[in-house]
Amino acid sequence: MRLSNETPLFPLRKGKHARQAHVDLPEGTFEEEHARNGFFGKTTHLYRLHPPTDWTRIEGPLRPHSYDLNNLFPVDPAMEGDAATQEARAKALGASLFGSTEAAFAPVCFLHNQDVAMHFVAPSPMDFFYRNTDGDDVYFIHAGGGRLETDFGNLDYVRGDYLVLPRGTTYRFLPNDSVQRYLLIESAGEVTVPDRGMLGPNALFDPAMIDTPELADYEETPSREWAVHIKRENQITKVFYPFNPLDVVGWKGDLTVWRINVKDIRPVMSHRYHLPPSVHTTFLAKNFVICSFLPRPFEEEEGAMRVPFYHRNIDYDEVLFYSDGHFFSRDGIGAGMVTWHPTGIHHGPHPKAIPLSRTKDRTDEVAVMVDTINYLQATPAAGLVENLNYWASWK
Ligand SMILES: [Fe+2]
Repeated sequence: MRLSNETPLFPLRKGKHARQAHVDLPEGTFEEEHARNGFFGKTTHLYRLHPPTDWTRIEGPLRPHSYDLNNLFPVDPAMEGDAATQEARAKALGASLFGSTEAAFAPVCFLHNQDVAMHFVAPSPMDFFYRNTDGDDVYFIHAGGGRLETDFGNLDYVRGDYLVLPRGTTYRFLPNDSVQRYLLIESAGEVTVPDRGMLGPNALFDPAMIDTPELADYEETPSREWAVHIKRENQITKVFYPFNPLDVVGWKGDLTVWRINVKDIRPVMSHRYHLPPSVHTTFLAKNFVICSFLPRPFEEEEGAMRVPFYHRNIDYDEVLFYSDGHFFSRDGIGAGMVTWHPTGIHHGPHPKAIPLSRTKDRTDEVAVMVDTINYLQATPAAGLVENLNYWASWK
């Protein structure tokens, strides 16, 4: 994502339109932003007489999708169904395992392309180590907490943490005994943070809020063998050692594991103008971004839009993972659910969101968005937990 330096050549105006985008829409119209480059490029606002999501039916692959990831790991085993259902389920989960290792870890992939793979993980304490040489790993801790052990030392983590693990880091999770559910966003390219630009270097989160691992005293374990499961091209190689391979006693440099919690991210907003989702960018990677939608007040000026404008994602597939709070702009969506809006199909505020937004003065939602330039594909595991009627909720 980059800022465009191009001066618009032809800001033409035809018919009824708002002079300022997202403010004082002409009576009876619905605004759509038709924009290139994820709201950074050339842009036109279209004023329509009907919500573009008010369809009667959709034929073909561009349906918007919704998945309930809670059902990937049912808390109650009784929900897993009869033997045939369980067999189908095991097959779908198996087909989706991108380099998963033993059951204590085993991420389940639900969406992927050549740049990014999104997984849901429910780990238990690992008695082996994992190393991903296919890319950087970004975890969002949706539920649970515990201790992460890495080459760089140990880091305790809690709900709401993002954990960033550079490619090639050896690590394992030692979760506590609460329910564990993590979103894993695996990036083929290096994960970085966006330039704060005019907001200054301490905006969004102060770099001083970042935590890095602390080295612990090394403990000899003479009587056991340790395994490192190394993933390359989604295949696992196991390497064994007669000692604990996390034997680093010191390090220096600027490449390490790091953590930031969403409560330490301070979103920007304007009381007079609905800012585009790109202002909530937390991480940049090759051909995708990760944004955090966090509790914040709504725009307060009469006439200023309080909900996302309609758009059809000209240059991005859009994925949202809902973690906490009330998702005011999406009806029927709860914590642990995912929506995927492929490039080209409209979305915006859900039908009930516009009137609802006028009755509230803030949102308490916590959601993670992944916008990808290249088209995504769903795995069989995603198909297991899809809400097939999601497209109809937009009517
Ligand atoms: Fe969107």
